Amino acid sequence: MKTVVIGAQWGDEGKGKIVDYLARDAQIIVRFSGGANAGHTIVSGSEQYALHLIPSGALYGDKTVVLGAGMVIDPKALFDEIDMLEQRGISLHGRLFISDRAHIVLPRYIEIDKERDAARKKPIGTTGRGIGITYSMKSDRDGIRVADLAWQEKLDELSAADRSFLECYAERLSACAIDVCAYLSLHNDKNILFEGAQGALLDLDLGTYPYASSGISAAAGASLGGCVGPRALDCILGVFKAYSTRVGNGPFPTEFRAADETEGSLCQFIRETGREYGVTTGRPRRCGYLDLVALRYACRVNSIDKLILTHLDVYDTLSEIKACTAYRINGHETTDFPASIPALSHAEPVLQRFDGWQTPLGAVTHFNALPAAAQAYIAFIEEFCQTPVSIVSVGYERNATLVREEKL
Ligand code: IMP
Repeated sequence: MKTVVIGAQWGDEGKGKIVDYLARDAQIIVRFSGGANAGHTIVSGSEQYALHLIPSGALYGDKTVVLGAGMVIDPKALFDEIDMLEQRGISLHGRLFISDRAHIVLPRYIEIDKERDAARKKPIGTTGRGIGITYSMKSDRDGIRVADLAWQEKLDELSAADRSFLECYAERLSACAIDVCAYLSLHNDKNILFEGAQGALLDLDLGTYPYASSGISAAAGASLGGCVGPRALDCILGVFKAYSTRVGNGPFPTEFRAADETEGSLCQFIRETGREYGVTTGRPRRCGYLDLVALRYACRVNSIDKLILTHLDVYDTLSEIKACTAYRINGHETTDFPASIPALSHAEPVLQRFDGWQTPLGAVTHFNALPAAAQAYIAFIEEFCQTPVSIVSVGYERNATLVREEKL
């Protein structure tokens, strides 16, 4: 069984926790896109881990983890992360593999990324990890792949600084390098999880371009970046939060307006309760109502089979909640997600009100035991998106996860 897990919003949907949870039943976890711009927080017992490059299933000592061809890998960040895990008793020795087709982030790309974004009239607000520069070097056919570390002619084209950086990591990288296509075809009988990074709305083609990342964070990226054909993928899961967040700049139709007293305090409440600060950059995340127009678009454009709802418990104390069911743009209502940045920036959300449940969900152990108001909110989302919600997360811990067996 090959299962894809992607974020169905602008990233930070809680994919890390969900991949960690689903990884129990998988043998191999393949991260297929992005780089150290991602940040996944995983809570295991009293321990908390922040991962950027290593797939979230890595905390289980018996899982194989693979960094796929669609990734851009900063070797320093990678080995710092591996060393941090080793120090905390999690060894990746012999079970971490890297696609020989993955691209390498050089230190100067990181500098260019920061300089270029700062020089933009309207900065994208990149994470400053060299991601966009590495992907553009790749599409310019000037990038360096893991396989190229053994290609002397190619290395000779580089500056002395680039070469000496690569020399520091060449041996360790090459020791983990594999042909992922060949490896996965040998393990075709295994349960394989393809872990996305960022979110569908940050995808380079399908997201809010140019306020997007540069990798393929859509489900289609699992095939390309995971080195398997699209027909090999059995199931696509889309993770979303009970509300919306975004880091960096770009349109966000349902964003809480700071000037509005109610929305301003709702923003503060959600940011603090949901711990909405970037794992990679520490930036406070922008917060807003759940955007069902955007979520349905993500379901359609990624063929999401099942949705996974996270952070539902953040709403526990509220007497009412709202979600966006349409946009009003220049006097017209639409339920489709526009490509135009000016249209999205001027879109006013049409909000539907729902009763809150005012009950702590953290103690709930079965979906059917959720308060009726929470179930009604979920049923509305399913109907609107025409996609079932198969898992609901009500806390950070692994066991705060309600699985609907009938929807799996
Ligand atoms: P970059 O990927 O660093 O080039 O950043 C491009 C945009 O994507 C910026 O708005 C970032 O804040 C956003 N972004 C990149 N990675 C993530 C992520 O993992 N979660 C949320 N936003 C992200």
